[in-house]
Amino acid sequence: MGLTYEDYIVLGNTNAEDWANYWAEGDTTWVSDKCNPYLIKYYQSYLACDQPSTIFVPLCGKTQDMLWLARNGNRVIGVEMVPQPCIDFFNENNIEYHVEKLQGMGNSKVYRSQAEGLDITIYNCDFYELTAELLGCQCDRFWDRAAFFAINPDQHPKYIKQLMSLLTPDAQGILFTVEYDIDQRPDVSSPFCIPESRLSEILSPIASVKFLELISMPRSWYGHLSLNSMDGKFYYLKLK
Ligand SMILES: C[S@@+](CC[C@H](N)C(=O)[O-])C[C@H]1O[C@@H](n2cnc3c(N)ncnc32)[C@H](O)[C@@H]1O
Repeated sequence: MGLTYEDYIVLGNTNAEDWANYWAEGDTTWVSDKCNPYLIKYYQSYLACDQPSTIFVPLCGKTQDMLWLARNGNRVIGVEMVPQPCIDFFNENNIEYHVEKLQGMGNSKVYRSQAEGLDITIYNCDFYELTAELLGCQCDRFWDRAAFFAINPDQHPKYIKQLMSLLTPDAQGILFTVEYDIDQRPDVSSPFCIPESRLSEILSPIASVKFLELISMPRSWYGHLSLNSMDGKFYYLKLK
């Protein structure tokens, strides 16, 4: 008999050291040198605000999406626990920045830039250590691409609770998940499969969830994971 999703949830085994190793070894298939085309596609309908807004980019790595959002007039706040992508983001995009230690949070730091009219802050710490007080605000919008599915499935409810604590009560955003046949992949690691039923179980008490689009992921995402295919799904979330 195959693995049930209940079994799968407790087997997730991607930890902080794995992420540090992926970055150190350049094993970062998710990195793109361009802004995600679906961010551009969905921005106007689901993320753009009449007033200046703060967009949260959880588990941001060094995504170009932050630069695109900032260039479109948004204040951008990201969080990433591995230091190198935080530094690379600013250096590779030739953006001047300054860095401060986060007091009382070990080696955690914050990287900030207001150069060239941009407003980008990246917290280099564990996502779960962030508070709205530390950010100095609650965020109006969020763009969750390759973040929720990077978290061990038993942590998904905790992740959503933490995300909500950083948002305004009427916040909205986009969430991207992947789905595949969990029986084809012996290793239970990121990117984790998140069926729509699981997403709705976690989110329906707190947000309305609108399915936007299914895409077939390119082979580079799943070929090395012994999978035959992988679907990607975009959802629009609005807090209740
Ligand atoms: C799959 S990558 C996606 C990065 C980015 N969202 C993108 O689209 O390019 C997931 C990122 O989450 C970071 N990460 C994983 N767990 C984290 C945590 N608890 N707190 C902060 N960052 C974390 C990893 O280091 C990695 O850079």
